[in-house]
Amino acid sequence: MDFYKVIKTRRSIRIYRKTEIPQDILNRVLNSARIAPSGSNRQPWRFIIIKEQSRRKEIAKLCHNQLFIADAPVVIVGCGKDIHYNRGEWMGNFSVLVDVAIAFDHLTLAARAEGLGTCWIGSFDNEGIKKFLNIPEDVNVVAITPLGYPEKDSAFCESHDRLPLEEIIYHETWGKR
Ligand SMILES: Cc1cc2nc3c(=O)[nH]c(=O)nc-3n(C[C@H](O)[C@H](O)[C@H](O)COP(=O)(O)O)c2cc1C
Repeated sequence: MDFYKVIKTRRSIRIYRKTEIPQDILNRVLNSARIAPSGSNRQPWRFIIIKEQSRRKEIAKLCHNQLFIADAPVVIVGCGKDIHYNRGEWMGNFSVLVDVAIAFDHLTLAARAEGLGTCWIGSFDNEGIKKFLNIPEDVNVVAITPLGYPEKDSAFCESHDRLPLEEIIYHETWGKR
């Protein structure tokens, strides 16, 4: 699929079919996250793949009861390991959020290219999920997504609810259009 079509038609999918995801397709999607860039190539990400239905439900509850998450056959929990050294000044440990977000974005776009839906979930109980999944102290949950085939293929539509380029691009200095 054309790269720009993938980007334009990736949507947050909140209604899923029960259809299983073939392992080779899942592997390709996960590999797209693996090869993402990161500061100093630290690769601070780890991904927990949850397939068991009762465990998916528990995660959905821990995402402030966003129960649609459990309808997808796979739920992915994206975690970031604290960065103990970083010359990035104010970025500091925030860099882990940037790194995991880049990998997660690779994952969501690769999923779209495979005909799979995702929905970036940023509203969750970090401590509750850490406890449930046995995640170590210096690791935090950064992003979660259900992964599965959308109930309707038409869900992959173009979005028009974005700011126009003229509003978000400045030239040479802040505010100059
Ligand atoms: C960092 C982040 C956190 C988000 N958290 C949630 C969430 O907790 N629940 C949800 O249903 N959607 C969540 N979304 C999805 C956004 O609502 C969605 O991306 C946005 O409305 C644009 O729609 P689109 O993804 O279809 O283009 C999140 C997206 C991002 C990038």
